[in-house]
Amino acid sequence: LNYHVPRTRREILEILLKGLRRLEYRGYDSAGVGIDGGNGKEWEANARCIQLIKQSGKVKALDDEITRQQDMDMDVEFDVHLGIAHTRWATHGAPSPVNSHPHRSDKSNEFIVIHNGIITNYKDLRKFLESKGYEFESETDTETIAKLVKYMYDNRENSLTACLMINPEGAFALVFKSVHYPGEAVGTRRGGPLLIGVKSDHKLSTDHIPILYRSSGKDKKSCPTLPRLEQDTCHTLFAEDKKSVEYYFASDASAVIEHTNRVIFLEDDDVAAVTDGRLSIHRIKRTAGDHPARAIQTLQMELQQIMKGNYSSFMQKEIFEQPESVVNTMRGRVNFDDNTVTLGGLKDHIKEIQRCRRLILIACGTSYHAGVATRQVLEELTELPVMVELASDFLDRNTPVFRDDVCFFISQSGETADSLMALRYCKERGALTVGVTNTVGSSISRETDCGVHINAGPEIGVASTKAYTSQFVALIMFALLMCDDRISMQPRRREIIQGLRVLPDLIKEVLSLDDEIQSLAAELYQQKSVLIMGRGYHYATCLEGALKIKEITYMHSEGILAGELKHGPLALVDKLMPVIMIIMRDHTYTKCQNALQQVVARSGRPIVICDRDDYETAKSSSRTIRVPHGVDCLQGILSVIPLQLLSFHLAVLRGFDVDCPRNLAKSVTVE
Ligand code: G6P
Repeated sequence: LNYHVPRTRREILEILLKGLRRLEYRGYDSAGVGIDGGNGKEWEANARCIQLIKQSGKVKALDDEITRQQDMDMDVEFDVHLGIAHTRWATHGAPSPVNSHPHRSDKSNEFIVIHNGIITNYKDLRKFLESKGYEFESETDTETIAKLVKYMYDNRENSLTACLMINPEGAFALVFKSVHYPGEAVGTRRGGPLLIGVKSDHKLSTDHIPILYRSSGKDKKSCPTLPRLEQDTCHTLFAEDKKSVEYYFASDASAVIEHTNRVIFLEDDDVAAVTDGRLSIHRIKRTAGDHPARAIQTLQMELQQIMKGNYSSFMQKEIFEQPESVVNTMRGRVNFDDNTVTLGGLKDHIKEIQRCRRLILIACGTSYHAGVATRQVLEELTELPVMVELASDFLDRNTPVFRDDVCFFISQSGETADSLMALRYCKERGALTVGVTNTVGSSISRETDCGVHINAGPEIGVASTKAYTSQFVALIMFALLMCDDRISMQPRRREIIQGLRVLPDLIKEVLSLDDEIQSLAAELYQQKSVLIMGRGYHYATCLEGALKIKEITYMHSEGILAGELKHGPLALVDKLMPVIMIIMRDHTYTKCQNALQQVVARSGRPIVICDRDDYETAKSSSRTIRVPHGVDCLQGILSVIPLQLLSFHLAVLRGFDVDCPRNLAKSVTVE
């Protein structure tokens, strides 16, 4: 939303489409945009007509559809303009133009809304609104919000912001536009992420915005149920020279970073409004523990970090970034000279953690695998019981949690709904909560008591790669910190820390196997299924490798604990079934050799990922991928990278879009 900087409609649409392209990884089955119609010169009058353009498919399809709109004057200039745009990951209703956002209150587009999340009481809301004569056009939960706002507007209130103080249930981030409030933007969130980028070449009036509470001051008298929101200059943000301020509401910073690195992260139930170039933030009432202001933060993210550069996909770029991303995770934290580890985000809590009853690692998808991968070393170095839990199952079981438990929430995005709900569940039960996320300002990083940012840099490819290895390193650093005063542990600590020192070089060596792995992919890409077997430190690699293959190649793939081979999976082995085995020289080596012989005895032709100098294993394998040998508990980082590369090459050979796998989204902010 730009204020008093004339922009053509073409420029406005380009800003919106670019923002959508940056967010496309969050969902990409349909997209839409809502902008002011008419002719910019008579803007006030023309903003009273909103134009919606929506299309199935990726943002490119929306872009093409906009180009096809012959009757729009693209060169007309607007002084003030609010446009909203959305790229969808379908939850309610199939991908189609009518189900895509923005949704509208009525055929004349009086109120339009974009939504990220799920409105869980939408059926009740819809029934109510239908009984009032509203006709629905889509199958979505979101449409109820657009209609509800109009209902509130027609029946009770004359302030757009006030209309948002309604109570839809579920998780959401919403942004509204209305013909009744031209040039005004209103956004709110509960559970879904929402931030506001503020761009101005001039000094801003403040670096934090105090919250306006509905129940404060004269508002209380004049409006007992809903707030009146006249702009109070001491509670709003504006550029001292109002001429050059622009506001960008977005689900994440990657959509705004090319415009500004100054952002405000909204909290749940904040309602943010931009009116006449000023931003104000409102809440219904003040509760204990509420921070009474929202700070404007300066992000460190660089535009270049969210560009593909010379790589064919973000996933490929992110795989090859791993020598640097693990360094960034360790930077300023691991001192290789005196073998110490410092984690600023945990320092005030480490004593409490050392006294706890058990550690519970809770996560989904790849982040869960990072927990599985490091469980053994956490048990070894902390000497505590460690549970690793899938967030959804943990909640389904109403798992007992105690005040002296420490619960870790591992999440690249920091926004995964299941993990976030598990976090709230553990907090209610008095456990100490620790976040391990890649996203500064995310819900998980804000709601946990303490934590570690993994600092892997933005990850855009839906299939997670560098976040996994950085989560792995972050959890290892935590384990090292937990035992830094244990004399008996020092030799092991030194071994691991020196292992971390050489890790980036070893990762580079694994990445140099890329051609070899590409030729393996050429042999395998027409297969229907791939089994991946291993045990001990590498069981997580099997799960993670199989997940990568499923996610982006759509081949069936299963990660199998080699110890369970004879209890079922062996029945799948024959001379045709591709079997990848991970066999490293660690404490499970002999047992892995047994599994290898069992596969060979059933005419299987195993492809083995093994230590570079393991000629013994090579003799029984149809093919080997030899990786350098590091410290046992870090070796899972080196064994997973060949599988990341393999899944990437398989997907390319099968002709699929590596970064945007069908049916999946990067950040799943719904249950
Ligand atoms: C989705 C993504 C996965 C990711 C999982 C957990 O399913 O497609 O790649 O591992 O969510 O996400 P988080 O952001 O919590 O790590």
